[in-house]
Amino acid sequence: MQTLLLSDSEVKSLLSMNEVIEAVELAFKEKGLGRVQMPAKIYLFYKKYNGDLRAMPSYLEELDISAVKIVNVHPDNRTKYGLPTVMATIVLIDPKSGAPIAIMGGTTITAMRTGAAGAVAAKYLARKNSKVVGLVGAGAQARTQLMGLLTLYGKLEEVKVYDKVEEARDKFIAEMEPKYGNLCSLIPVGSVKEAVEGADIVVTATPSRQPIVKNEWISPGMHINCIGADAPGKEELEPEILKRAKIIVDDIEQAMHSGEINVPISKGILTEQDIWAEIGEVVAKIKPGRESEEEITIFTSTGLAIQDAVTAHLAYKKALEKGIGKKIEIV
Ligand SMILES: NC(=O)c1ccc[n+]([C@@H]2O[C@H](COP(=O)([O-])OP(=O)(O)OC[C@H]3O[C@@H](n4cnc5c(N)ncnc54)[C@H](O)[C@@H]3O)[C@@H](O)[C@H]2O)c1
Repeated sequence: MQTLLLSDSEVKSLLSMNEVIEAVELAFKEKGLGRVQMPAKIYLFYKKYNGDLRAMPSYLEELDISAVKIVNVHPDNRTKYGLPTVMATIVLIDPKSGAPIAIMGGTTITAMRTGAAGAVAAKYLARKNSKVVGLVGAGAQARTQLMGLLTLYGKLEEVKVYDKVEEARDKFIAEMEPKYGNLCSLIPVGSVKEAVEGADIVVTATPSRQPIVKNEWISPGMHINCIGADAPGKEELEPEILKRAKIIVDDIEQAMHSGEINVPISKGILTEQDIWAEIGEVVAKIKPGRESEEEITIFTSTGLAIQDAVTAHLAYKKALEKGIGKKIEIV
């Protein structure tokens, strides 16, 4: 049998954010309806190299899509080796035979499905008339978070951008301006406070291990997409914010272990009862999302293997249609 090999840049040329949002929304719904198998991701910690590795298997039973992703997070990669913080490989499996039907670069898929998750969360949780976005952290994930929100809303009034590294912020703006300058006004700011205050939607996408967003900057009606915290010990928000908010997670077990709530939970500041719902339950209409204009809503994304599986499957289907990739006999 033949396995299709796709490089990350081939995958990138095949995916559009619109379609990825649709696929991720469906994956969340399938989870909400209890039709997926997805053991919580398992971690290896390379402590002496300040990095970790996760293995993420999943099976969407109704859609008959299955995959395993291997992904690392090494925050020093950019400065030390000129490599991205996050790099991923995905093996797409045929559930019927267990055969590997494709092996592909998963770095773009990881970033796009995470941006798509932010967009789906905003669709169900943010106020419909949201116009001002505050981005905290201007790295790889911030780019697709912006892409996701612009795909959802079409246009935004202001996107305020903060990064603790000024060059990273300026590079982000220089890159995004030609792509999205006609859809939003990109404004560099000099502090987290400036990015957050007055925003309708705040996106945190840093590898921070201490709170950087203060409770006093959060006003009623805000929606916050917490993207950065995806491993034990990571946190970006003061826990008081979580106490005031309706908390929606992508997966309860993963979120408690490694999402924005992991540190407050381990300290006993929050408990499982403080979690309102999984996003899949909201998408499947089992539980409501936003219920008032004043509510503060928080989506904490840890990243689900099912998001990767459906996005990889989308890339695979399109690659076959367009004759892209290389086939080899691996097994
Ligand atoms: N939720 C998910 O599904 C998911 C998926 C992929 C990555 N992540 C996580 O998202 C985070 C960002 O990943 P990335 O690929 O964008 O990394 P990146 O290195 O490309 O970008 C991170 C940016 O955050 C900035 N930063 C660091 N600390 C900051 C602080 N205190 N205040 C403001 N800016 C700060 C850095 O300067 C950098 O520009 C990581 O923690 C990663 O593990 C989550």
